[in-house]
Amino acid sequence: MRIVHTLADLRRQLLPFRHPAVVPTMGNLHAGHLALVRAAKPLGDLTVATIFVNRLQFGPKEDFDSYPRTLQADCAQLEAAGCDLLFAPSEAELYPQPQSFTVQPDPALAGILEGHYRPGFFTGVCTVVLKLLACTQARSALFGKKDYQQLLIIRQMVRQFALPVDVIGQDTHREDDGLAMSSRNGYLSVAERAQAALLAQTLSRCAQAVRAGATSFADLENEALQTLREAGWAPDYVAIRRQSDLQAAQPGVPLVVLGAARLGSTRLIDNLEIERLRPSYAASP
Ligand code: PAF
Repeated sequence: MRIVHTLADLRRQLLPFRHPAVVPTMGNLHAGHLALVRAAKPLGDLTVATIFVNRLQFGPKEDFDSYPRTLQADCAQLEAAGCDLLFAPSEAELYPQPQSFTVQPDPALAGILEGHYRPGFFTGVCTVVLKLLACTQARSALFGKKDYQQLLIIRQMVRQFALPVDVIGQDTHREDDGLAMSSRNGYLSVAERAQAALLAQTLSRCAQAVRAGATSFADLENEALQTLREAGWAPDYVAIRRQSDLQAAQPGVPLVVLGAARLGSTRLIDNLEIERLRPSYAASP
């Protein structure tokens, strides 16, 4: 695997290739990232990963400074997963001047859920993803579905700017007890880790109830919030929404249940897609 840190070196390396398949990351890689790299392999003529901890998407009280930076270990894992090229720019390289041009995603999608609790987050994400897609000349780009809202917003951005990029979402990788893999799981204490799967379990109970025909979405959300609170979590939201745009759930369309909650000082997010509701449940057209 070649490793480049500058745009000039990246451009030189990209010259012979027509279809880079790109996995943007912030490093501290886990099995979910590596699955994205493996999925990228057959999609292009060059498999590229990026590692960049993007200051623009962190709030002033968030963990930008303490975010784990593990470049050496990440390189070994990327190489083993078959990555051809890693672009790991410094901040000075990617943002040589303050980034005064930014991408403002549609607030109907970016102002809710994560966007409500993390103002400016999706502007930071879109700005860096647009830049990374341009730098790497991506023709395919792969993202995990754990960041479900992020994936929808990136799809929307790519469509609206007519970027020649296929955006591909990959299923969330989970630990044996169901905890969604995340770089932030490393912040959990042993005691917190032991109960961290409760978020996934709670979302799963919601999803099962919807599959079984429950229609009282607000009640299900409130029960889930209560379960988390009783176990000592501080939930931001549990929300059953339409998969397509994360607006209010309706019968007969594919739904997703999303949640975000703090366990101690670690904020975890997760979601589960709920397949199309049974026809007997769907509203008449
Ligand atoms: O999901 C992430 O790791 C980041 O938000 C991304 C897409 C790499 C942008 O910094």
